[in-house]
Amino acid sequence: MCIPAETTERGIEEVFSRFTGKRKELIPILQAVQDMFGYLPEDALKQVAGFISVPESRVYGTATFYGQFYFTRRGRHTVKVCCGTACHVKGAPQLLEALERELGIESGGTTSDFEYSLERVACVGSCTFAPVMLVDDTVIGHMEVRRVKECLAAQKDGNHSNQLGE
Ligand code: FES
Repeated sequence: MCIPAETTERGIEEVFSRFTGKRKELIPILQAVQDMFGYLPEDALKQVAGFISVPESRVYGTATFYGQFYFTRRGRHTVKVCCGTACHVKGAPQLLEALERELGIESGGTTSDFEYSLERVACVGSCTFAPVMLVDDTVIGHMEVRRVKECLAAQKDGNHSNQLGE
């Protein structure tokens, strides 16, 4: 499923209205497009190339160089499981498996309702609280498999605050 063309068109116009069309704006424009749609739709990349007057290949090349950009539609929420050494030792693999089961997707995937994307990430710098999971900007430390459902539900309800320091 993709975003309808007319929605992309409106969104792109809104993004472009914030920039002057200079080549040096390429990365901020790509970031703004991703903020708007949650990923970089193919049509949008073509329009970005036209807006800053560079070949499409340059836009694609830049976008693919940086890990921050996505090329397929993402979930409204991103769940990240830290798989750094400390978290691995404290049960990150089991936590990831539980999330894959609960969400019905594999790591790197997105649920069919586009509610959640699931990712493995490297150390997020909170090793003391291992194992660590993030739901959007919420950092959840000392995470346990039995709390997976509860944490996802809390995020859906908008009840999200960092849960470190237990
Ligand atoms: S290894 Fe997970 S926070 Fe450092």
